[in-house]
Amino acid sequence: MSIHVKNNIHWVGQRDWEVRDFHGTEYKTHKGTSYNSYLIREGKNVLIDTVDHKFSREFVQNLAAEIDLASIDFVVINHAEEDHAGALTELMARIPDTPIYCTHNAIDSITGHHHHPEWNFQPVKTGDSLDIGNGKQLVFIETPMLHWPDSMMTYMTEDAVLFSNDAFGQHYCDEHLFNDEVDQTELMEQCQRYYANILTPFSPLVTAKIKEVLGFNLPVSMVATSHGIVWREDPTQIILKYLEWADQYQEDRITLFYDSMSNNTRMMADAIAQGIHEVDPGVAVKIFNVARHDKNEILTQVFRSKGILVGSSTMNNVMMPKVAGMLEEITGLRFRNKRASAFGSYGWTGGAVDRIQTRLMDAGFDISISLKAKWRPDGSALAECREHGRRLARQWALHPLEAPRPITTTQATVVPAPVMAKAPQATPAAGEWDDGQAMLCTVCQWVYDPALGEPDQLVAPGTPWAQVPDSFLCPGCGIGKEVFEPCAVEACV
Ligand code: FEO
Repeated sequence: MSIHVKNNIHWVGQRDWEVRDFHGTEYKTHKGTSYNSYLIREGKNVLIDTVDHKFSREFVQNLAAEIDLASIDFVVINHAEEDHAGALTELMARIPDTPIYCTHNAIDSITGHHHHPEWNFQPVKTGDSLDIGNGKQLVFIETPMLHWPDSMMTYMTEDAVLFSNDAFGQHYCDEHLFNDEVDQTELMEQCQRYYANILTPFSPLVTAKIKEVLGFNLPVSMVATSHGIVWREDPTQIILKYLEWADQYQEDRITLFYDSMSNNTRMMADAIAQGIHEVDPGVAVKIFNVARHDKNEILTQVFRSKGILVGSSTMNNVMMPKVAGMLEEITGLRFRNKRASAFGSYGWTGGAVDRIQTRLMDAGFDISISLKAKWRPDGSALAECREHGRRLARQWALHPLEAPRPITTTQATVVPAPVMAKAPQATPAAGEWDDGQAMLCTVCQWVYDPALGEPDQLVAPGTPWAQVPDSFLCPGCGIGKEVFEPCAVEACV
């Protein structure tokens, strides 16, 4: 079966309603996918990409019903991964001498998968073109790492169709082929899931490549992807969306994910989320148990978030394995412009939280103070979790928040992690110094000057130290009031 795309272009791909796994089992395709192959019949007949290797036989049979295979003049392979070039062996067995246009890198990867170095490869570079008759040309644009080193796009002049391969696609299956025919919410969810889970590490390349392509000033009437729908209505919308997503994307959203041996870390997560919501009712907060929830959905939520909290019980002095796996994947995805904090319960050692915090730092997150709770959090511990949530909500706020109300906390069973390593230091009682007393952070030497206050934490100029909320965190090192000591402003600065 073929579907008319435009003029002399037809879709000759394969829908896959039932596929649930991609890249091993790392990407869950809850909405199926499609493998889009296109047949162009101009002065020359051109096939652009094939389908997944498991549909090789059906693909070649269907194609043979559409066109005499011997009349195919050129095959273009935009990308050698098996979901696009997988049917090449079956196809080339029927037309072994047909030229295959692909990047130089693709010769290596196609040969590596199909083991036919004798095929008639025609390597192309960005800007190379192929005359296909009727005044039309195919222009090639290398797109290395979108998604493999071999990737490229192919642009068809006159019809102004960009065959973009993986870029701008989605793992989404529908009987309709065009973007204006499908559920828009489903479509954009799948686009974002695809970008977040597959393309995030290559965001700087996405930006550079799109700007390069836009610099050609070519009209684009359609973006014909190799997965999911063809962008026919307002096709540049997905290109602009990619530019937005590639630019250190974030929403006013916080994601918490954890694994919990005895529900204690889950109790912490709930209480922290309550604290966040209390201080900043406008921020979106989502909580996930990594052992029970779709990993790709969690990663999509991380992609959308301005900050994440990662929790784990301590097990054998390390974090729980599913949390470790998530952190490994997050490290590989190379998220940027996001904040993070660790939390978790423990019994006799609290190794998990410290390891999570270190891993988050290594993954490039801007780290905030972490939180540990010993054994099952009691009422006081949960109050401290809520206060921790309030602190982070203020620290991570993207807009002005209401002034914090005073909170009485206890650290009997809950300890902000960085403080644990320090000997407790008594905070002088109010009245032990003048209202104009400056305070020195003994950890990083940052100075609180009452005349200036700390507007980023809603502490107004003129606020004496005694009236600074207990939730105050040093802007220099993120540690609380307990590490501050009186000093003279002149002596401190
Ligand atoms: Fe759809 Fe990179 O393969």
